[in-house]
Parts: sequence; structure tokens; C-alpha cells
Amino acid sequence: MVLIDGKKISDEIKSEIADEVKNIASKGEKIPHLAAILVGNDGGSETYVAHKVKACEQVGFQSTLIRLPSDVTESELLKQISGLNNNPSVDGFIVQLPLPKHIDEQKIIEAIDPNKDVDGFHPVNVGRTVIGLPAFISATPAGIVELIKRYQIDVSGKHCVVIGRSNIVGRPVSILLSQKNTPGDATVTVVHSRSKNLNEICLSADIIIAAIGSPGFVKANMVKEGAVIIDVGTTRVNAPETKSGWRLKGDVDFDSVAPKCSFITPVPGGVGPMTIVSLLKNTLLAAKKQ
Ligand code: GUN
Repeated sequence: MVLIDGKKISDEIKSEIADEVKNIASKGEKIPHLAAILVGNDGGSETYVAHKVKACEQVGFQSTLIRLPSDVTESELLKQISGLNNNPSVDGFIVQLPLPKHIDEQKIIEAIDPNKDVDGFHPVNVGRTVIGLPAFISATPAGIVELIKRYQIDVSGKHCVVIGRSNIVGRPVSILLSQKNTPGDATVTVVHSRSKNLNEICLSADIIIAAIGSPGFVKANMVKEGAVIIDVGTTRVNAPETKSGWRLKGDVDFDSVAPKCSFITPVPGGVGPMTIVSLLKNTLLAAKKQ
């Protein structure tokens, strides 16, 4: 069994990006600049955004964090987005999700200039991804594909079961892996909360991508001997033994599943660090396009 080391790969990619930034700086060109809007103070979102800002520092990007209170109006948030859309110093930006209930998330996503949408959530980028045109591919699916590529996992012709159909992970990763591409050319099945025979379908998978946000959902009796397991889950569960009182748990019951696998991603340290480097790569791409 090979433990896929997302931290190591993400460090390698960060160092590649840092070299590019040094090159850009040495030519006197503009340093890539990523901005993030954080609404409210949801614990998970705070952590994710802090990691994104830190990653910018590590590779030499400029970063800006705009904090807005949880009761910010939709129109004020739209005004901030318009400001970033029109700010030539900012190459790309993200609005951290989820947003408070009184804000229409889709309206916010559609207000972002697709050329600055480094999360790849705007319908223009999603649509371009679906038909295989150059686009900002959303960070987690792009990170998963990069891990598959760097570990030289052959997915062509294999049965890949994606558990979960979210716009952020399940849906786009299912599209990327079925595309005529390398990695790609997989036979993809998307299963979700309404799927019948979910266990049997998973048992026939060569590759399982678990992205449902249900800790420990994938059990050993759902996994074929020698399967590849990519665990996207990051649910905070109580852990009195830790300083924070919580720890991250993936969608896979790691201890029982790992011995059956050919490759498996741990949580934390698997897909998570890759998501952040994909965002950095998209920002670099945005900076080159501006
Ligand atoms: N919330 C959970 N994942 C993400 C992400 O990749 N981008 C944004 N903006 N919000 C998120």
C-alpha cells in the first residue's frame, strides 16, 4: 500500500511556483496577487483562508484578505466583488464558502469576473472545463488530478466511482477523469445519497473518490482489493486529546480500508494541501493572462 503524500507533492509544487515568482520578480514584472473575501467567522473557513494566505507568503505572492461581518448585506458584498473585478493590482480572488444564509451564493459566484475566478466556480469556467477548453479548474478536482498524475496512477479505462455530486468536487472531478486526457479516459460512475446499491457499485471500483462529507463513510467491505482511494472528506470531529479539541476526519474509514488498497490519501495531508497549491497555480495563470 502506498500512502499518497499530498504534503510532499504540494511542497514540491510550491517550490516550482516560488521559482517562477523569483523569475517574474527578476524581470521587474508584476508579482501575482491573490485576494480572498471572508464573511463572518466560521471556524473551518477561518482555517482554510489562513492556510491560503500563508501559502501565498511561502511562494512570494502578494495577498489581500478582506474580512466582512456575518451580517454584511448582499449588495455590500457585491460592491466588494466589483471593486476586486476592477482592481488591476488583483490577478485573482476567491469568496470563501459557505456564505451566511441571507446571501445568494450563486449570485455571488456569478458576479466574479471569470478571468479572476481562480476558484473556477463561475459557470463560464465550469462550462469551459466540461467541454475541455482552457479554464480555471476548481482547486480540489485539479489537486486530485495532479496527485494521480504525480503518482503515475493509471486511470485510463478503469472504473472510477465518485461518491458525492457537489459542484465544488464530485461533479467536476467526475468530468475531468472521464475526459479524453491524461490522466483521464476513465469510466466514471457518480453515486450520491439517492443511489441504490451504492456498496456494490463501490466494490466494483478500481478508484474511489470519496467526497460526501460523512466521516468514515467508506468501509472496508465497500472496497475491492488493490483499489486506489482518494479521500476528500475534511470533517471536524471531537478529539478531547488535541489542543484544539477537534481533528479532521476523512470520508474513509482509514484503518480498515488502507490495508486493502494499492494507494490511499490520508486525512489530513492528502488532498487538502493539493487544493491550496491548485489555487496558487490558478493565480499564477491569472497573472500571466492579465
Ligand atoms: N469552501 C470549501 N472549499 C472551498 C474552496 O475551494 N473555495 C472557496 N471559495 N470556498 C470553499
